[in-house]
Amino acid sequence: MKNEIDFSVNGEAYAIVVESHHTLLRVLREQLVLTGTKNGCSEGECGACTVLFDGEPVNSCLVLGVEADGHEITTVEGLALGEKLAPVQQAMIDLGGTQCGFCTPGVLMAAHALLQRTPTPSDREIREGLVGNLCRCTGYTRIVDAVREAGRLMVNGQ
Ligand code: FES
Ligand code: FES
Repeated sequence: MKNEIDFSVNGEAYAIVVESHHTLLRVLREQLVLTGTKNGCSEGECGACTVLFDGEPVNSCLVLGVEADGHEITTVEGLALGEKLAPVQQAMIDLGGTQCGFCTPGVLMAAHALLQRTPTPSDREIREGLVGNLCRCTGYTRIVDAVREAGRLMVNGQ
């Protein structure tokens, strides 16, 4: 069954028809060709598919596309401001928080949401904020360092 949905993705309004059984992840990747959001496990375990749903991080593999009707979605493609990377993106590069990069879009979205709520999180708060995002490469230390640094950049208006 098909449904028309109206929603906003990265500040742009879309009216599209989606299959009622397609996940938001599938709608974003296959219909809008926003392939920054990754499909790791398809079952809510890895966090690679994390996007912001009305500002809150969700696993887009667990949300149906039709549920996005009337809502505001932000993907990793929407984090940067034009040519300028978001602080969390820049810090992740500068502090080596990314290796193979597969988890990185999801980590960025969860970290961005955390920093919106808590601009100067403790290391424990950072680890708790990223608890749903699995990384098989970095050991997390550099990711935590990068999120802490991103908070510092944001507080200082950089
Ligand atoms: S792909 Fe959604 S949590 Fe793994
Ligand atoms: S950088 Fe490879 S999974 Fe995180």
